[in-house]
Amino acid sequence: MENIHWKHPNTITGPPAEGSRFFRRQYINDELWREIEKGVHVLFSAPRRVGKTSIMIDIVNQKRKGYTCVFENIQSVNRKDDFYKRLYFLLLNQLGKIERVKKILVKWLKAKGIEEISREGGIKIKEIKSDYKTELLSLIAKLPELEEKVVLFLDEFSEVIYRIRKYENIENAIDILQTLREIRQKKEFRHCFFVLSGSVGLEHVVESIDRLTLINDLHPLKVGPLSLPEAEELIRQLTDGSTMIIKEAEAAYLLEKLGHMIPFFIQLLIEECNDTLYSENRPGLTNSDIDSALEQIINKEKNLNDWEDRLRPDYLSQSAFEFCRDILTRIAHAGYITTQEIFDLSVKYAERDKYMNHLKMLVNDGYLSECHQSQYRFVSPLLKSWWMMRHPEFEIEK
Ligand SMILES: Nc1ncnc2c1ncn2[C@@H]1O[C@H](COP(=O)(O)OP(=O)(O)OP(=O)(O)O)[C@@H](O)[C@H]1O
Ligand SMILES: [Mg+2]
Repeated sequence: MENIHWKHPNTITGPPAEGSRFFRRQYINDELWREIEKGVHVLFSAPRRVGKTSIMIDIVNQKRKGYTCVFENIQSVNRKDDFYKRLYFLLLNQLGKIERVKKILVKWLKAKGIEEISREGGIKIKEIKSDYKTELLSLIAKLPELEEKVVLFLDEFSEVIYRIRKYENIENAIDILQTLREIRQKKEFRHCFFVLSGSVGLEHVVESIDRLTLINDLHPLKVGPLSLPEAEELIRQLTDGSTMIIKEAEAAYLLEKLGHMIPFFIQLLIEECNDTLYSENRPGLTNSDIDSALEQIINKEKNLNDWEDRLRPDYLSQSAFEFCRDILTRIAHAGYITTQEIFDLSVKYAERDKYMNHLKMLVNDGYLSECHQSQYRFVSPLLKSWWMMRHPEFEIEK
């Protein structure tokens, strides 16, 4: 029978954490604003599932005097023209919400022959015949006159560049990178700022098309795992008012077992612990409950699937995917791997020229870390055990 008096912790595992579910690290928000106020655009450079999307949404919701912030997940964009169109409407609609600006814009659009179709809530226009890139640039160049500064938070940007390159061509991907660089550098575009992010490191995608110079002026905003006091605070925040009680000693044990303290892992573990206690109708968490919860997480396929999915050929070539998977499987079994072994393996997959790029990607995206000189291991014991479960064997080289 359902225990209606049981108060569950305030966890969320999957979608971005927002509102009371979000644990804020104010220094990250502050660093971002320091850069924007200096006129520098930002690249969110953080490993998988560390909380990039949640942070961007929080920054946009917090609002900042003098800036209009817009968050958009642009994952579905597959073509260059769609990218410019999406950005154009994003900007236009946002500006249209400001009454003073809307009036000026409507007049301006009319003079350009762009017809407005609705005056309710934002600006809606008929499809335009000219190209959206030109219109977007002209709208951005209008911002100083409108006395508006806009920050566009584009999530999943790296995936878009990757897919445009794959499904259209390399020139179109470069065109977008070049245009965004032009916006960052030319004076007339000085009121528009970009914060770019993605679940696949942008550096890796751009490096693979040999155009790192097109993003080297972005400020890489690094977001790492939580510190121990932050992780303890997150546990308190999640279990505040919940029926499940986690005492200090158990919280310390939980974090020690977790090893790598990204919010997502903490959320997963708290949720799993709560499920057990709820089903047994007892509030006090023990160390052995924590051990069982970790086992459960490792045995469930869905929890950490994302780590494998993001390596699939949607984001990497087939051979690169197989190469990376093999590296991870070997480390899961042996504990670590040396750079020499990785190099030897790259020959088998015909990835010799790019083996360092792939290794860097596995480090930057939060799979591996260098434990000793030229030795790599999983950043998280949880991820290691999960990977081993999913890949119980590997081919031994003769
Ligand atoms: N600040 C936070 N407070 C509480 N939970 C968080 C926070 N950041 C991340 N999480 C947890 O991590 C999960 C993933 O968060 P989010 O989608 O923001 O990460 P991400 O880095 O954008 O992931 P991806 O690499 O898949 O795009 C959330 O569902 C939540 O469980
Ligand atoms: Mg995200």
